[in-house]
Amino acid sequence: MARLLVIGCGGVAQVAIQKCCQNHKTFEEIIIASRTLSKCDDLKAKIEATDCPVKITTAGVNADDKEDIVKLITKFKPDAVLNVALPYQDLTIMDACLECKVDYIDTANYEPEDTDDPKWREVYEKRCQEKGFTAYFDYSWQWAYEEKFKEAGITALLGTGFDPGVTSVFVAYAKKHYFDQIDTVDILDCNGGDHGYPFATNFNPEINLREVSANGSYMENGKWVETKPMEIKREYDFPKVGKKDMYLLHHEEIEALGRNFPEIKRIRFFMTFGQSYLTHMKCLENVGMLSTVPVEHDGHLIVPIQFLKTLLPDPASLGPRTVGKTNIGCIFTGKKDGKDKTLYIYNVCDHQECYRELGSQAISYTTGVPAMIGTALVVEGIWKKPGVFTTDEFDPDPYMDMLNKYGLPWVVDENPVLVP
Ligand SMILES: NC(=O)c1ccc[n+]([C@@H]2O[C@H](COP(=O)([O-])OP(=O)(O)OC[C@H]3O[C@@H](n4cnc5c(N)ncnc54)[C@H](OP(=O)(O)O)[C@@H]3O)[C@@H](O)[C@H]2O)c1
Repeated sequence: MARLLVIGCGGVAQVAIQKCCQNHKTFEEIIIASRTLSKCDDLKAKIEATDCPVKITTAGVNADDKEDIVKLITKFKPDAVLNVALPYQDLTIMDACLECKVDYIDTANYEPEDTDDPKWREVYEKRCQEKGFTAYFDYSWQWAYEEKFKEAGITALLGTGFDPGVTSVFVAYAKKHYFDQIDTVDILDCNGGDHGYPFATNFNPEINLREVSANGSYMENGKWVETKPMEIKREYDFPKVGKKDMYLLHHEEIEALGRNFPEIKRIRFFMTFGQSYLTHMKCLENVGMLSTVPVEHDGHLIVPIQFLKTLLPDPASLGPRTVGKTNIGCIFTGKKDGKDKTLYIYNVCDHQECYRELGSQAISYTTGVPAMIGTALVVEGIWKKPGVFTTDEFDPDPYMDMLNKYGLPWVVDENPVLVP
């Protein structure tokens, strides 16, 4: 039975924590720690009203401050730390875990809050030149902890959300059970949900808007090919959702899969967007509202994208009003027993069913469930070994079983329509 410290109490954390409570054979105590203590206390009250046997404790924490996290870990002595705050905090939380020799789990790879920081910028510019993609986030910062985690005998499991997370497990599962050789992977993320607002993001607006307004890229024959934002568009008829326009984006699992499965000749990632979302985003970008660089307004410094976040609906509040389904999965081509083979593994998740079960929309749900599953596999010792890993580096079978058990059942289609 494990004691878990969860850092962050937003949309994803709320699902992950409630799912840990459903898995009370693994988790006996959860310490919920975040910047806004009242959110942690509200969630504790909600869980305690359900007669959940898991002990819940709450605390305030500034996860940008390593010493603050170390104090928390020293006080509560958790077996593992699940970071579902923001990617900005990944390194401080990893440093604290290292100091206290506690396992670390997250759902998104590191990116800096201040992309104008000259120290970060120097490393970034070098990486852009060497690797050929310009996204602000990449795995190099966290992979650099490999030796330190090995020496400390602790595990870091990176990116156990849906994408990355489940999509990477789908690749490991396809390779283990269906292919001798995978040639191409297309990761398709479709959100067919409608929340009724003219514009809102389904998870943290700052992280979401940074991701979709950046250049796209994909990996071909081990090299990055970069595109302009939204340059490559395809239409796909998604099972249980229907026809949607989708656009090629840079996405973090491409980097890890490219490293761990060098045989794969091409890895692409597509996400669906409606025209209204794209028009709003372009307009906000054109007027400077997506900028992370502070500007002076009436004698105060404000960061435009953070101000925009204040104006937009809280993603955690979209649950009651979002209807429709998500469909996220991977389409593979390759060879089995010398013959050509294609395969599609996907999950369909219904926004309203998620809301009825946990009070959340499907984007938080599809991230929070795998966050719990990855954490459970680490604390149970099934996915535990010293070092820094992504989810495609372990046996996929126990993870796939838990997806079925905890609300994200998957489908295997051996005759899918391919993406041109
Ligand atoms: N892999 C995937 O499929 C996937 C998909 C979606 C999201 N994600 C990732 O999941 C994570 C959470 O997303 P979300 O939508 O739940 O975001 P969110 O709703 O904005 O929640 C973030 C939480 O972190 C807390 N926080 C932020 N800065 C903090 C700090 N310095 N110290 C302590 N707590 C801090 C926030 O506190 P306040 O309440 O005070 O704001 C909030 O509770 C993000 O890293 C996101 O990139 C991954």
